[in-house]
Amino acid sequence: MPDQSPKTVIISGGTDGMGRATALERLAKGDHVTVIGSNAAKGRALLDQVAHANLRFLQADLSSIAETERVVARIGEQHDAIDALALFANRVSPKRKETADGLESTFALYYLSRYLLSFRLRPLLDAGSDPVIINVAGVGNTAGRIHWDDPQLRRRYGQVRAQLQAGRANDLLGVMFARQAGSRARYVLYHPGFTRSGANSHPNSLVRGSIDLLAKVFAREVSEAVRPIVQWIDHPPADALSAIDRGRRVEESLKTLDPDAAGRLAAYTETLLRNR
Ligand SMILES: NC(=O)c1ccc[n+]([C@@H]2O[C@H](COP(=O)([O-])OP(=O)(O)OC[C@H]3O[C@@H](n4cnc5c(N)ncnc54)[C@H](OP(=O)(O)O)[C@@H]3O)[C@@H](O)[C@H]2O)c1
Repeated sequence: MPDQSPKTVIISGGTDGMGRATALERLAKGDHVTVIGSNAAKGRALLDQVAHANLRFLQADLSSIAETERVVARIGEQHDAIDALALFANRVSPKRKETADGLESTFALYYLSRYLLSFRLRPLLDAGSDPVIINVAGVGNTAGRIHWDDPQLRRRYGQVRAQLQAGRANDLLGVMFARQAGSRARYVLYHPGFTRSGANSHPNSLVRGSIDLLAKVFAREVSEAVRPIVQWIDHPPADALSAIDRGRRVEESLKTLDPDAAGRLAAYTETLLRNR
């Protein structure tokens, strides 16, 4: 029997890896869960496999602003309130790709979709019972930075550079949401550590094989990595912002959580959205 009343949970990147595992755990607790992914066949397979009336799938390419906005509108039609938003969607891109909006794809998917989902779903979260947003990225890692002179990485691109920049942008997203959104929703930045997920999505089969091999030896089980996420949905931390790196609290004084940089990124992001 569930120990709480059922929650309404939205999961970006919920068709695979840690997002999928979180979706299944929350369904088992009686929640209503909507998962978002870009691959319609994967979404259909999940619906068939789980065969649970409380599971919904929304197909959308979250690297597109219009698609993310369509998803926000659809969620608004389906729900009056949501209790948890868990953000997992990400994909590495060995070569620089531009989205239809003219943005570097890692920035668009890994950071901007999370910005849009966090801020645009805020009214529904504020109508939730004990709302929480969990952004699963790499908080605590101080490698990488926002390349203010070239945030779309037009002059110099590398997949690690792009991942690290978007990871640092997600750190700042947590800071800006907690400071600016005026929301009841608590924001949790979570770094799960090296986990046995995600290797399948790498486009290069050699890299896929190597990650898979390393993961078998060094990575955590997916169920272990998502355990705190599943718990935060029942019991959000009290603070407006929490940053947790593999079970350890990250001090808000860490340079990657700098409020001035968060303000600068918020201004850059709003300008991007206005001028598109
Ligand atoms: N795995 C690790 O070791 C590790 C370590 C630290 C941090 N993290 C972070 O944890 C998060 C989850 O990682 P994971 O390993 O669970 O990832 P994963 O198994 O690769 O799953 C990624 C999810 O994102 C979705 N997705 C990818 N591109 C999308 C798009 N354009 N639009 C919508 N959905 C899209 C995928 O669905 P579709 O295929 O259907 O699009 C899938 O459901 C990521 O942000 C990752 O950076 C992972």
